[in-house]
Amino acid sequence: MNKYKIAILAGDGIGPEIMKEGVKVLKVIEARNDIEFELVEAPFGAGAWFSHGSSFPEETKLLVDVADAVVKGPIGLNHEDSKQIPIDEQPERGALLPLRKRLNTYANFRPVYLPKALAHFSPLKAEIIGDGIDMIMVRELVGGLYFGEKETGVDENGKRFVREVLEYDEEQISNILHRGFKLAQGRKKILHNIHKSNVLKSSVLWNEVLEEIAPQYPDVTVIHNLVDAAATALCLNPTQFDVMVMENMFGDILSDQGGGILGSLGLMPSACLGHDGKAYYEPSHGSAPDIAGKQVANPYSMIGSMAMMLEYSFGMIDEARNVWDAMQSVFADGFSTSDLSKPGSGVTMLSTEEFGDKVVAHLQANG
Ligand code: IPM
Ligand code: MG
Repeated sequence: MNKYKIAILAGDGIGPEIMKEGVKVLKVIEARNDIEFELVEAPFGAGAWFSHGSSFPEETKLLVDVADAVVKGPIGLNHEDSKQIPIDEQPERGALLPLRKRLNTYANFRPVYLPKALAHFSPLKAEIIGDGIDMIMVRELVGGLYFGEKETGVDENGKRFVREVLEYDEEQISNILHRGFKLAQGRKKILHNIHKSNVLKSSVLWNEVLEEIAPQYPDVTVIHNLVDAAATALCLNPTQFDVMVMENMFGDILSDQGGGILGSLGLMPSACLGHDGKAYYEPSHGSAPDIAGKQVANPYSMIGSMAMMLEYSFGMIDEARNVWDAMQSVFADGFSTSDLSKPGSGVTMLSTEEFGDKVVAHLQANG
């Protein structure tokens, strides 16, 4: 029997309630497969700062080092409450980026998946959505501006200034491009390369490296898009995209646009993959403090992140598919949650927990 240790970092805001539903799904998978999940909870995020004096406490660091996979809920507080925490300890800077660096999860896969059952959530017109949207944005996750050297100060004329460095070396670039090419090989064999080489030197090197490694993937067609043009194309003709690969900040921004295309960031799970099987899984959205604890958040992004863990960390491709299908079925049956749907929109509104229960019921009936 395969035994896996999974670190559970529930996080802040809606994190604990959506994590609870994700865990229910894992229990179903565990019960019907020759597999054992050892789930170990650990503090992480703003809550951890208040309870443990650190948003990424030592015990959590030690746990993520030995875990076979990590699942993480959203972290962070609202703008005002954040001010209670020193700037470098705020969970985005003090926990999330260090987690990414520690596990060196350089490849972030963010599916923008809008099958028929979800189409009504999208703000896009039916003719633009066509038969549905199904793409994966591949975002470089441990380099670029977010991790570059930073300096704030006052110059010789007394003016405040800031300097942040966007740095990549060729190895970082080729690592993420290989991930993009490999993913494209297993899908439609089209890779959209997103860059800004008309302005940024980092994109010039990026494209040079791409030209060098592309011959290793003769079956993949590369299509180049400037990032600003890609933002427009995502609205006007999203179905042309299958795998998109890009550097860290472009991926941060365009993947949120992906959430906009779907109608909510609540429909955006993700996988953060490193070398030698290191990986963690997280919703792409924030902790939504305004609706925390109210049982109105849809657990889709968390359960979808679990599905990605089943696929990428444990090779359970069929069960991952079953989890996705179970979630679509709940929507197709006419259920939703009030973070995604307005009253009067013809759906039956469920609580977070009820939605999780329906997913579990579908999963149990199928598989
Ligand atoms: C994301 C988030 C993070 C990021 C924040 C919370 C630091 O927006 O995962 O997309 O910018 O990467
Ligand atoms: Mg983001």
